[in-house]
Amino acid sequence: MARLKVAVLISGRGSNLQALLAAAADPDYPAEIVRVISNEATAPGLAHAEAAGVPTEVVEHRDFKSRPGFEAALNATLIDAGAELVVLAGFMRVLTADFVDSWPDRLVNVHPSLLPAFPGAAAVRDALAAGVKVTGTTIHFVREAVDDGPILAQAAVPVLAGDDTDSLGSRIRTVEHALLPRCVARIARGGVSVVGKWVTMDDEPPAEAVLTNPAV
Ligand code: GRF
Repeated sequence: MARLKVAVLISGRGSNLQALLAAAADPDYPAEIVRVISNEATAPGLAHAEAAGVPTEVVEHRDFKSRPGFEAALNATLIDAGAELVVLAGFMRVLTADFVDSWPDRLVNVHPSLLPAFPGAAAVRDALAAGVKVTGTTIHFVREAVDDGPILAQAAVPVLAGDDTDSLGSRIRTVEHALLPRCVARIARGGVSVVGKWVTMDDEPPAEAVLTNPAV
């Protein structure tokens, strides 16, 4: 069976990338990671890809005068890699509508909150500041608006007394590491469809399975 070709875009640590690489190391996993691209040359996550033998590429946004120029370089790399799905795993650049539209329902983001609560780059800090008792993670298809788009999966994470952004962010990432590879596998196996804001899966599990935190 041909595996879905996945490219992963990162900017930093790359722990979600690591989770995808670990999943894809199993020959029965329905997707393979064909390229890892970072907009930061110093991103520690690049080393995870190199250790797994996955080709990496640095496309530094600072090297381009305009966002479309940066995105054209990104797209050239993605096309060269034969990518069929692009995962934004801690990729800290906002993408234009043109780029997003060129990957229709083929662009997935991981966001560390239960969207639509706490969009933006400080989601964990904002959740702590708001005093919520539960936050979590959202895996969603990307649309033009930042941290918006049809939701593939969400998982809740409790906010504990004494949490700071490090402890809460790390607890959220543990859940992401389980959920993201599952979402990519679901897309790779087919049967995921998007109608408006709503994602359906052919073999939709019962509601209690969706609501259960996979890491607990
Ligand atoms: C994750 O928490 C993800 O939700 C957010 O950025 C973080 C990336 O972490 N978009 P890592 O680089 O995968 O460790």
